[in-house]
Amino acid sequence: MWMSKTWLVQAFFIFITTESIGKLLDPCGHISPESPVIQLGSNFTAVCVLKEKCMDNFHVNANYIVWKINHFTVPKEQYAILNRTASSVTFTNITALSVQLTCNILTFGQIEQNVYGITVISGLPPEKPKNLNCIVYEGKKMMCQWDPGRETYLETNFTLKSEWATEKFADCQTKRATPTTCIVDYSPVYFVNIEVWVEAENALGKVSSNHINFDPVDKVKPSPPRNLSVSNSEELSSILKLSWINPNIKSVIRLKYNIQYRIKDDSTWNQIPPEDTSTTRSSFTVQDLQPFTEYVFRMRCMKEDGKGFWSDWSEEASGITYEDNIISF
Ligand SMILES: *[C@@H]1O[C@H](CO)[C@@H](O)[C@H](O)[C@H]1NC(C)=O
Ligand SMILES: *[C@@H]1O[C@H](CO)[C@@H](O)[C@H](O)[C@H]1NC(C)=O
Ligand SMILES: *[C@@H]1O[C@H](CO)[C@@H](O)[C@H](O)[C@H]1NC(C)=O
Ligand SMILES: *[C@@H]1O[C@H](CO)[C@@H](O)[C@H](O)[C@H]1NC(C)=O
Ligand SMILES: *[C@@H]1O[C@H](CO)[C@@H](O)[C@H](O)[C@H]1NC(C)=O
Repeated sequence: MWMSKTWLVQAFFIFITTESIGKLLDPCGHISPESPVIQLGSNFTAVCVLKEKCMDNFHVNANYIVWKINHFTVPKEQYAILNRTASSVTFTNITALSVQLTCNILTFGQIEQNVYGITVISGLPPEKPKNLNCIVYEGKKMMCQWDPGRETYLETNFTLKSEWATEKFADCQTKRATPTTCIVDYSPVYFVNIEVWVEAENALGKVSSNHINFDPVDKVKPSPPRNLSVSNSEELSSILKLSWINPNIKSVIRLKYNIQYRIKDDSTWNQIPPEDTSTTRSSFTVQDLQPFTEYVFRMRCMKEDGKGFWSDWSEEASGITYEDNIISF
């Protein structure tokens, strides 16, 4: 709405500076609708009604009305004289996003006098938002994203709504982007069903996405394991032992891991077979390494049953395997 107001002010400004100075203070008539927003491709009719006083002053009636769009005269075929004071103009299949429409009168001596101006804004109603999905960041926030559908050319608001049996979370408001996202602050609740949906609204309509229901625990992206450390073994030159601190979400869910390692000067990561790291733990011994070699490690975690999202990778940690006794003797 604010956009059309701005345009209206601009339109007036143009009239004042280029056309009928002073007339706008007491316009000679008015156009309705005042600030139309119409659907692209639709038909649009506006009516200009002249004031009696003005018609007397200028010795005119509705027959003298000239419609202009962006300062170009609209062909007479599109006009209809409704009565002595009113003329309408009709446009079919509007394709411009914003046009200035003015009502003018042709006064004595063929001098054109501006009566009134409006801005016609066009766009499309919002489409139903699709592919709504959410990520629950461990212990802090929930981020949902969706496909906003086609461009509407209008200010379109999206409101993400979420609630569960006993609580409504604050609405999350956002503008269009692809994909459109919104981040909800909420104290995490787990092992309940929450319901989430998104509403899209602009001047031409309002539409709601399908509602999705889920247990937040199945959409968790844990924080990565922290304080990853590596220690070597004097007895076995082919192993390194990793230890770490699990994210706090471990008190709520069981975890599985990906552990990757590489020789320090090598850029390709090797991965420990996932089946070896498929249960909650806080240390792991990596075997079959080369003696007296520096290795770099990193790891990530997610819910043991594979629901939700992998954490980001942990910080890297490195360690050096012990010298091989057989070779050194
Ligand atoms: C617009 O006007 C045209 C011509 O009068 C008509 O054929 C068409 O059905 C109208 N379209 C709508 C959406 O009303
Ligand atoms: C002429 O038509 C306009 C628009 O329909 C209406 O507002 C106005 O009252 C009418 N005037 C007369 C004198 O009938
Ligand atoms: C409306 O205009 C668009 C673009 O010029 C055109 O593609 C479309 O066929 C037109 N529709 C009608 C009903 O005339
Ligand atoms: C969009 O939201 C803003 C801020 O809440 C509001 O002022 C505006 O009227 C809304 N626009 C629509 C089309 O709902
Ligand atoms: C984990 O690392 C942080 C930052 O390096 C440190 O402050 C903290 O004491 C460490 N915690 C443990 C249990 O080692």
